[in-house]
Amino acid sequence: MAKPPKFQAIRGTRDLLPPETALWNRVEETARQVFATFGFGEIRPPILEPTELFARAVGSDTDIVSKEMYTFEDRDENSTSLRPEATASVCRAYIEHGMQQLPLPVKLYYVGPMFRRERPQKGRYRQFYQIGAEVLGGSDAPAIDAEVIEMVMTFFDRVQLPGVQLDINSIGHTADNCRRGYVAMLKGALEKVKDKLGADSQRRVETNPLRVLDSKLEYEQPIIETLPRIADHLCDECKAHYAAVKRQLEMRGVLYRENWRLVRGLDYYMRTTFEITAHGLGSQNAVCGGGRYDGLVDLLGGPPTKGIGFAIGEDRLILSLQESGKVADEAGRDVYIAWMGERAHATAIRAAKDLRNAGFSVELPPVEQKFGKALERASKLNSRYALILGDNEIAEGSWALKTLADGSQQKFTEPELLDFLKRSRD
Ligand code: HAM
Repeated sequence: MAKPPKFQAIRGTRDLLPPETALWNRVEETARQVFATFGFGEIRPPILEPTELFARAVGSDTDIVSKEMYTFEDRDENSTSLRPEATASVCRAYIEHGMQQLPLPVKLYYVGPMFRRERPQKGRYRQFYQIGAEVLGGSDAPAIDAEVIEMVMTFFDRVQLPGVQLDINSIGHTADNCRRGYVAMLKGALEKVKDKLGADSQRRVETNPLRVLDSKLEYEQPIIETLPRIADHLCDECKAHYAAVKRQLEMRGVLYRENWRLVRGLDYYMRTTFEITAHGLGSQNAVCGGGRYDGLVDLLGGPPTKGIGFAIGEDRLILSLQESGKVADEAGRDVYIAWMGERAHATAIRAAKDLRNAGFSVELPPVEQKFGKALERASKLNSRYALILGDNEIAEGSWALKTLADGSQQKFTEPELLDFLKRSRD
């Protein structure tokens, strides 16, 4: 018979395994706790959405929509895509459920996988995870922008993300006296230096001049530095909004750096945009991106609505925490039960049940092992204690507990044991 083929995870996707998944869970748990203290509730939108939703919301000319989406024709010939991001889904859900009737603003967060067919590298995957939040409603008060940023910074502080740097910018709004005017001016300036730019930037001069500012190419940097800056060309309202956001951040003690080149790669943004970087990530160092998107809900057929939000790249967040070396190894067991003999097995099963009910992690070997072998396995599994149950212990009603770190051993009655373990946990 031919050998069955070996399967591997699809390029750009991966299995998340223990003990690392414990860290993922802890990070997500912290996000849920912090976001709840800011009054956010969880939304779980589907992973499949109509392709047109992203084309409209994110923009059909963006890299995400034009090159990176996993799109297929559903059987009834509707074009369907795996979501590349979730802001569009949240806006769709806001409209679909008439959430404008709820007390505003509506504050939602989500945790889950996103899909983009990018070239995989460190910190960049085709299936990756985001922890995101959105605020939707009738107000664009600068305090909302600042509070959303304060929330994500609080979260990063809580998980002890190393080297956090917040960059902010305002990209104004679409009007001749604001962004549109600036982009026209930028395009003019870029056309004059076009032959000194690389192929990607040359293309962008035509399709989306703002994105040229994103370039990381060394030889383009001095040219980009000479280009006109958007802050000097915002309309009065956008300028005032930006100034107020900065004031509000200062009132909250949030440290930021202004970065006029921060333009973001999704079409729905206006006014406030921000990005957060962290240590240990190499070139893919953005752990969070976000901004304001007033009018996106309207664009998707909903009522006039203001919006702002962010998404954290969870894979990168975890990577940065791991590189910081501060992550505790969470693998291991509290108690390994080394039992020998029929009677001891029955007692061991009962003891395991009681200990687990009390919240201890317990390894109960399914078949009898020699004590030497059991202790070896207990230490391989990184157990804190080995509970030794043999015929003698059962007969005497006195159980032996070995502390694996120093080899010391103590005797306990059954109730004493539970007591001791509980005290040693606190
Ligand atoms: P984004 O900047 O496209 O924004 O993605 C946010 C974050 O997701 C990035 O900063 C990065 O950490 C992570 N990320 C993106 N692509 C990948 C990838 N291929 N592999 C690993 N991580 C990745 C958005 O998605 C917006 N929806 C954010 C938002 C919410 N704006 C307003 N509300």
